[in-house]
Amino acid sequence: MANYLELGLFLPSTKGSLIIAKNMPSRREATWGLNKEVVLAAEAAGMEFALSQVKWRGYGGASGHWDGAQESFTLMAGLAAVTSKINLIASVAVRTVNPAVLAKMAATIDDIADGRFIVNIVAGWNKFEYAQMGLWSDDDYYLNRYDYADEYLTIMKRLWTEDNVTFDGKYFKMEECRSNPKPKRPLKIVSAGQSEGALSFVARHSDYSFIGRMNDTAEQLGVVARKIAALAAEHDRTVTSYTLLNVIAGRTQEEAEARKATFMADRDEVAIEEWLRVSGFDRNRADYQELPPETTTFMSVPYIVGSHEAIARHLDSLAEYGVGGVSLCFPDFENDVPDFIANVMPRLTCRERPAAA
Ligand SMILES: Cc1cc2nc3c(=O)[nH]c(=O)nc-3n(C[C@H](O)[C@H](O)[C@H](O)COP(=O)(O)O)c2cc1C
Repeated sequence: MANYLELGLFLPSTKGSLIIAKNMPSRREATWGLNKEVVLAAEAAGMEFALSQVKWRGYGGASGHWDGAQESFTLMAGLAAVTSKINLIASVAVRTVNPAVLAKMAATIDDIADGRFIVNIVAGWNKFEYAQMGLWSDDDYYLNRYDYADEYLTIMKRLWTEDNVTFDGKYFKMEECRSNPKPKRPLKIVSAGQSEGALSFVARHSDYSFIGRMNDTAEQLGVVARKIAALAAEHDRTVTSYTLLNVIAGRTQEEAEARKATFMADRDEVAIEEWLRVSGFDRNRADYQELPPETTTFMSVPYIVGSHEAIARHLDSLAEYGVGGVSLCFPDFENDVPDFIANVMPRLTCRERPAAA
């Protein structure tokens, strides 16, 4: 029996999703209507989760890429009320909200969702998102971001289980802090990141880890998944590794390649320059190295271009190598999600659950 692969959506809660190109599909704005529509479709098709990003600033240009982004926790609170089975993952940028406030927000959404709520901890990598609101003036924050996140999550977890929390940390002080009502069960934690700091954080705190760089093979992902599982085992914990995948599908390989070609021809150079600049790939730096156009157009995120059959086989191979789940992103959510459900999901072998004993 093949390993089971969970499926979820990397929601279109940020304008333009994961392709920096002009003339994208008409419904590319981050709206409640589009997000609700695709989550309900995913839930009806049996997908396990939906994740929304936290984003505070986009990259401009004609595409206005990520210039619009719905706030993750409020979006997921709305989705919690209109869904009944699918797990909902909201993202918090730990620099922006006090952990006691966040602990209560999460417990409230988990109550609305009746136990289906999960928190994605974002340590923060993009100074320009936070500096604009006066929340990142210390230059060494980037180096210490996972120590900061560690204190943050330690406090949240304690507030979810203890009556009074007193905490004297480097970054946070709590004085007999209270948070009620408690969630009915400890909330699951997601985090992404593959730096050494991130991996150590994941091993100690997370239940799910997002792994994968743009050109990683399924086999390479399997190696990282096993490394994380081994690190977690040192803390008597279990961490399941997921990956993110931008799916550009067609009825045939040629049709899918033609779709990719339109995005490449249409790449938004202005927005890409801004993304490069704020991501630390500034062309003015002496050590700057030109990135392949695919890397910049698809934001350095793993992607696949293929027929329905080819995409199904790739997902099966991810499961075989021990990846536990995939968060799916699409260029045109409105049409691509129903297409994936109708034409890729029935071809998957990694969705057959073992029969109950
Ligand atoms: C599935 C997934 C979700 C992510 N969500 C966010 C997010 O909501 N906001 C954000 O700024 N970064 C997000 N990231 C980026 C990671 O949090 C992390 O900063 C990045 O992978 C760099 O890792 P590092 O901190 O180990 O260098 C996400 C990454 C993945 C793969």
